[in-house]
Amino acid sequence: MKITFHNQMTDAHFVAIPVVEENKIAKIVGPQAASFKSVEGLFTRLNFQGKKGKTLLVPHTNSASPIFFGLGDEKKLAFKDLAEIGAAIYRSSTSLKEKKIAIDLRELKLSVAEAGVVASEIALGAILRSYQYLTYITKKHDELKLALEEIEIITHDTEGSKKAFVRGDAIAKATFMARDLMCMPPNDLYPESMAKELLKLKDIGIDVEVIDEKQMAAEGMGAILAVGRGSARPPRLVIMKWNGGTKGEKPLAFVGKGITFDTGGISLKPGSKMDEMKMDMGGSAIVSALMKTLALRKAKVNAVGVVALAENMPDGAAYRPGDIVRTLSGQTIEVLNTDAEGRVVLADALWYTQDKFAPSHIIDLATLTGAIIVALGHEMAGTFSNEDTLANDLFKAGEKVGERVWRLPLDPSYNKLIDSTVADVRNTSIAGAGSITAAEFLQRFVNKTTWCHIDIAGVTWTPSDTPLSGKNPTGFGIRLLDEWVHRFHESK
Ligand code: BES
Ligand code: ZN
Ligand code: ZN
Repeated sequence: MKITFHNQMTDAHFVAIPVVEENKIAKIVGPQAASFKSVEGLFTRLNFQGKKGKTLLVPHTNSASPIFFGLGDEKKLAFKDLAEIGAAIYRSSTSLKEKKIAIDLRELKLSVAEAGVVASEIALGAILRSYQYLTYITKKHDELKLALEEIEIITHDTEGSKKAFVRGDAIAKATFMARDLMCMPPNDLYPESMAKELLKLKDIGIDVEVIDEKQMAAEGMGAILAVGRGSARPPRLVIMKWNGGTKGEKPLAFVGKGITFDTGGISLKPGSKMDEMKMDMGGSAIVSALMKTLALRKAKVNAVGVVALAENMPDGAAYRPGDIVRTLSGQTIEVLNTDAEGRVVLADALWYTQDKFAPSHIIDLATLTGAIIVALGHEMAGTFSNEDTLANDLFKAGEKVGERVWRLPLDPSYNKLIDSTVADVRNTSIAGAGSITAAEFLQRFVNKTTWCHIDIAGVTWTPSDTPLSGKNPTGFGIRLLDEWVHRFHESK
């Protein structure tokens, strides 16, 4: 989707026009109010009150046809609503055969953000909602592809909007990359091919290094090697560095679980919906996309992304329940369930990250447990942290952009549930608290570093639409972490 900015109406045949709700009555905002006075009079009869996210398309023969979009009560409008409103405008266009539409934001003044940022957020929401994955469709490709290719934003502040949209554009491009990676079938996306994809990030100034299975063995990464052993596709660890901050400043580190397919291994998963486990590399897709965002918008921060890529397969060579594996940290893991593989690969990735880069913070993202879906459903991700400020900052960032997180406890009483009698730690809990004990397991591999684990199992791949995505891959975490970096860690 192309976004262009203009300071007056263009030749677009459809124009989205903002409408606010005042005492249940819809009022058109901006210079088009006069020309559509007669339609405004019909709003009540058309049952259109200008509620937030509602749209009304009125075909018009003499001028551009208006698509009225509701902002609801202006006073109640939150920042996260802006992108959702953009997405609603996009949705209203999907019934059209038009290649472009305009959105008239002139004279729209909102207290939640400056005009340029408002324009950028609305544009971003529209783009995010326009995502389609049609790569493998050969026959019905043209039929399925939606027509809209360009959105023209009409604004008095074209310069401010363009400037703000540098960030929106970066997020949009990165989100599409993450969604593509998650949708890619596991016969084509495996550790080596994903590493190859990530090497392309070099083109935008990210330093990318790939560690293969031989180097892993030499370094002593017994955990990630154990998980990858059952697959014909060997594991990879990919390190991405963006140095936009002051020289010598400790980096922020992001670590991602990248199981390109999770069969469960010898502890095989049931067959139903197993195909969805191609999204078990979601954490690594989000970490990579965040690095891409930071590079594209030239963030003034030092960041490192580390993704642990492996395929979890049952095989003669596969690791088994009962195995004890030696991790990079020196600690040994008793494997009780090969389906609890995410924490095993992360053990090496987390240790490597804190040891090699001495980061100021580590945030890991992982589709780690089914239990987090039991607890929080598909609405919020779970956070687990050894530091209150970090947990609170992530909460604030999430509330602002609408990628919400909820903190769950870490506590020694849970940590002891993963003590093993034959090794240092076991990879499943003795009893209950599946998401918390998984986080406790990870905590044993971050040493003293300020750290937060985000369990994104429920929010990465959703069974039905979210405001900014159709069903399936969401891209959850990119906006959350970009906002966290921007607000709390970027030199201004
Ligand atoms: N990848 C799964 C977790 C998952 C479940 C992600 C559903 C997305 C949707 C993970 O590797 C897993 O299988 N975890 C097990 C752990 C258990 C064996 C201790 C689980 O949650 O059942
Ligand atoms: Zn698993
Ligand atoms: Zn998994």
